Amino acid sequence: MDNSSDNSRDSFSSRFAVIAAVAGSAIGLGNIWRFPYVAGENGGGAFLIIYLLFVFAIGIPVMTSEFVIGRAGQKNPYGSFRKLAPGQPWYLIGIMGVAAAFMILAFYTTVSGWTLEYFYQTLTGNLAGKNDSELTLMFDEFLQGSYRPVIWFLVFMGFTGFIILSGVKNGIERYTKMLMPILFVLLIALCIRSVTLEGSMAGLNFLFYPDFSKITPKVILEALGQAFFSLSIGMGTLITYGSYINKSENLGSSAMAVSIADTMIAVIAGVAIFPAVFALGGSPASGTGLVFIVLPGIFQKMPLGQVFQLIFFSLLSVAALTSTISVLEVIVAYLAEELKMTRRKATIAATLMVSVLGIVTVLSMGSLRNFTIAGKNIFGMLEFLTSNIMLPLGGLFIVIFIGWSFSPQRTKDELTNDGKLKAGYLPVYMFIVRFVAPVAIAMVFLYSLGILKL
Ligand code: PHE
Repeated sequence: MDNSSDNSRDSFSSRFAVIAAVAGSAIGLGNIWRFPYVAGENGGGAFLIIYLLFVFAIGIPVMTSEFVIGRAGQKNPYGSFRKLAPGQPWYLIGIMGVAAAFMILAFYTTVSGWTLEYFYQTLTGNLAGKNDSELTLMFDEFLQGSYRPVIWFLVFMGFTGFIILSGVKNGIERYTKMLMPILFVLLIALCIRSVTLEGSMAGLNFLFYPDFSKITPKVILEALGQAFFSLSIGMGTLITYGSYINKSENLGSSAMAVSIADTMIAVIAGVAIFPAVFALGGSPASGTGLVFIVLPGIFQKMPLGQVFQLIFFSLLSVAALTSTISVLEVIVAYLAEELKMTRRKATIAATLMVSVLGIVTVLSMGSLRNFTIAGKNIFGMLEFLTSNIMLPLGGLFIVIFIGWSFSPQRTKDELTNDGKLKAGYLPVYMFIVRFVAPVAIAMVFLYSLGILKL
């Protein structure tokens, strides 16, 4: 176990384990399910460019800042802020993070449940030979049936709780190390099949050719939200993981490596999906069902497609699981450290509470689908509020904290491991967290509220 940090806190055992766990959190449904569907609804190429800009100019600095806070604070987000800024209200960021964790788990685990259904449906051969409209119908009927998605949700929530019960090292590390490379290879195979379908060029054009006339305040806000969501930043997941990172690890380069990997996976998922969408006659703006309808279509056109599809949905479930555990860990670390519950009690309590909200969320796409607020069902509402509002807001306060409140010397100590590492990027990083990131996030908010016009 850990021997270099200053207390007996559970921690990741090696550099590879850190990267694997953080990448496990970042890489998941956000890349493979959400990125294609949100890009598809927001115009493709232009969205991609703005998204990339936000990842590099804002996302990586926010991730680095979360690591700094977590490793300096050695606690859950709430506790870390309390410790680093006693008597100041920064801990509210931690509270918002716990709230966001509940909300994200409710809809994210819902979609994770869909991956289990699609694994099961592949196993029983029900997806084979179906065309685009049959696959669409099947997806809709599945959601509206209500009963199956609730069961799968609960199964997935159970897995998540179970892994969290076994603790950071045994639970989180083990499951993230091996399986991601296989998922990566499968995604590449999907890309190859997708771009070699007849009529696929239109899809590549859609994804890579920016039509700047499509940029609206909504597109910009969605791109910011997707960048935050995909990198798992803005709500304290990576403060929590940062608190488990050894004193000898390089925080800046870890953030960089994970963010690049995460972004590559999203783009690769886009290359797998969009050419097939156009080749098989679907619409890129099909919403949350996009990948569940398109992917089975591509697999059908591959030799041994059903076998690959089975492997794919099982790995996608694992990728989702390494993300849900990172979100649940935020709540559990908070309950255990601040409300002095045992980890076991905290996990059970958190799992049960999330399940209540989650069941309502699942049903909001089924029997409760006619209940909407501002045109969004509960699922859509939770997704919008967390990724587009709460995470960027959390990120805004995190960079302001590091840029303007926390001691620059302590930030430097964390990023250089007390002078043992070189961190040539430090001046750029400080400039971004002080000026660029806060101004950019604030501008996106004002712009999307219609207060600022470009
Ligand atoms: N980044 C994860 C994904 O892309 C989702 C996530 C969001 C995880 C926020 C933790 C916190 O799948």
